[in-house]
Amino acid sequence: MQNKIFSVKDKKILITGASTGLGRHFSKILVEAGAHVIACARRVNLLQDLKNEAQDKIGKITILPLDILDYNSVDIKLTDLFQGINGIDVLINNAGYSPKVKKPIFETNLDDWDEVFNTNLKALWNLTKITAKDMSTRKIQGSIINISSTVANRTRIGNPMYGISKTAVASLTQKLALEFAQYKIRVNAIAPGFFETDMNRNYILSPQGQETIKRTIPLERIGEYSELNGIIFLLSSNASTYITGECIFIDGGYVVNSVT
Ligand SMILES: NC(=O)c1ccc[n+]([C@@H]2O[C@H](COP(=O)([O-])OP(=O)(O)OC[C@H]3O[C@@H](n4cnc5c(N)ncnc54)[C@H](OP(=O)(O)O)[C@@H]3O)[C@@H](O)[C@H]2O)c1
Repeated sequence: MQNKIFSVKDKKILITGASTGLGRHFSKILVEAGAHVIACARRVNLLQDLKNEAQDKIGKITILPLDILDYNSVDIKLTDLFQGINGIDVLINNAGYSPKVKKPIFETNLDDWDEVFNTNLKALWNLTKITAKDMSTRKIQGSIINISSTVANRTRIGNPMYGISKTAVASLTQKLALEFAQYKIRVNAIAPGFFETDMNRNYILSPQGQETIKRTIPLERIGEYSELNGIIFLLSSNASTYITGECIFIDGGYVVNSVT
């Protein structure tokens, strides 16, 4: 039985990137705990599967097909949604993109930078702006949760755009927290370490990935999805009403590992 202080019952929670991986998991645990989840992504068939799985849960799932790069449509769809359900309590900016091919910086071009920053940073800014504006108008003391990464704090060779975009997400989180404090809207980030999803499965299962995990994570293993449950319930519920501007690492000790 979930402690009442972490209750998300009847909270309206919009999650981007709900079709797969971490976003799908967040949607499932929140709907099981009684939230009304608005599940967003481009692959509607996967969202429909998620909704079917949630049929007998105490919460509710509404599917919202959304390409977060289509700003005009995001504006129209979110405005309609907020009018229809009288705003939301929590926004989880989870959708993200990482290039499959890890290019050295010499080989990157402007398009490589744009495709990562457009999804991971600019679209997150746009969704947050629209949502926080609506929360402030409706006087909802909401919570915004951005998904950053351990690469916000540690540098890895290859894929510089992704790491820098996640550092920017952590930095933007602090600035948004400061600006939105006057509306009593909290903004925090979660920085996961390694969790196996479509984004990183090939690397995690490779011999190089396995070796890196053992060597760089003090707990010597990747995370289980369920090990993100605590932080999601904390930041989505009223248990975190005095927490804002934080970036919380859930990484088996990766960012505090010894450099020697
Ligand atoms: N897995 C990890 O170890 C790890 C570690 C640190 C941070 N993260 C972050 O966690 C978040 C979730 O990633 P994941 O690992 O769960 O990977 P994933 O399974 O590949 O999920 C990415 C999600 O983003 C959505 N998405 C991408 N572009 C979109 C767009 N233009 N419009 C709407 N939705 C879009 C995808 O949905 P559609 O394709 O259906 O639209 C998909 O549901 C990301 O921000 C990632 O950077 C993951």
